[in-house]
Amino acid sequence: QALPAQRITGKARLAGVLGWPVGHSRSPLLHNYWLRRYEVDGAYVPLPVRPEGFEAAVRGLQAAGFRGANVTIPHKEAAFRLADVLDDSARATGSVNTLVFQDDGTIRGLSTDGDGFVASLRAAGFDLPGAGQGAAAGRVLLLGAGGAARSVAVSLAAAGMQVCLTNRTRARADELAASLPGLSVCPWEEWESTLGDYALLVNTTSLGMDGGPEPGFCPSLQQASAGLVVADIVYVPQVTPLMAEAQRRGLRTVGGLGMLLHQARLGFQAWFGVEPQVDAQTEAYVLAGF
Ligand code: ATR
Repeated sequence: QALPAQRITGKARLAGVLGWPVGHSRSPLLHNYWLRRYEVDGAYVPLPVRPEGFEAAVRGLQAAGFRGANVTIPHKEAAFRLADVLDDSARATGSVNTLVFQDDGTIRGLSTDGDGFVASLRAAGFDLPGAGQGAAAGRVLLLGAGGAARSVAVSLAAAGMQVCLTNRTRARADELAASLPGLSVCPWEEWESTLGDYALLVNTTSLGMDGGPEPGFCPSLQQASAGLVVADIVYVPQVTPLMAEAQRRGLRTVGGLGMLLHQARLGFQAWFGVEPQVDAQTEAYVLAGF
């Protein structure tokens, strides 16, 4: 089915993505696809902004009548400080990836990455938090302790999962665990041998990413329980070596593209007033643009 042409009139609703650099962002492709598909009068543009220009840029977008913006590296903490009203995830992560300019002049800050991840798990049929058998039920092992790990940990914990962190640099995992209630930490050298204790394994590191530090990253999943679900937030490649190994063992996998699409859904809805579908058609369109 042919996609309608984009309509941008004098009344168009506007949004964009603030980052530095921002050229690699998939968000313009995705949001303009949805704008066309739902025949919304609007546009979504990349906004390359240096760190020192961030606040001026946000005020300028507000003055120009934008509905809001996504925020990516390196502005997520600055966006957190600038927002007047924060949602629970933003408060818990100390970062904001979505700004919504409200009619009363205030700025709402959301952190939608973690909730996008949880939505992608649910869409893949993973039943939170009840998933898993016996002692593994409701337990997740999370690889990494960076910003992505924090967002995912906050949302998994909010969904009722028991989260155990493991990270190459132990101190970062300890620090993250100490800042959120209910998290535990296990040693990086030992996680492969403890896999049987978990219903879900999530990679939030850049391991396995094309062009990343270790694109071939493929740990042993020998100790995995039969019901383990393996999720990766890396989406290039679409099937990481970790996911391929899980599939070889007959385990269910969830790739990172769903998180990208679901985190975007919440912003799109707030700015453009339409709830977009994350479906096979959307995935195919975004993948074709990579
Ligand atoms: P983000 O905000 O995207 O999560 P980040 O803060 O740079 O990015 O975090 C990257 C994560 O990948 C970290 O958990 C990092 O581990 P360290 O804290 O030990 O640096 C992990 N990571 C990156 N390269 C790695 C490697 N070669 N081996 C193991 N972990 C790695």
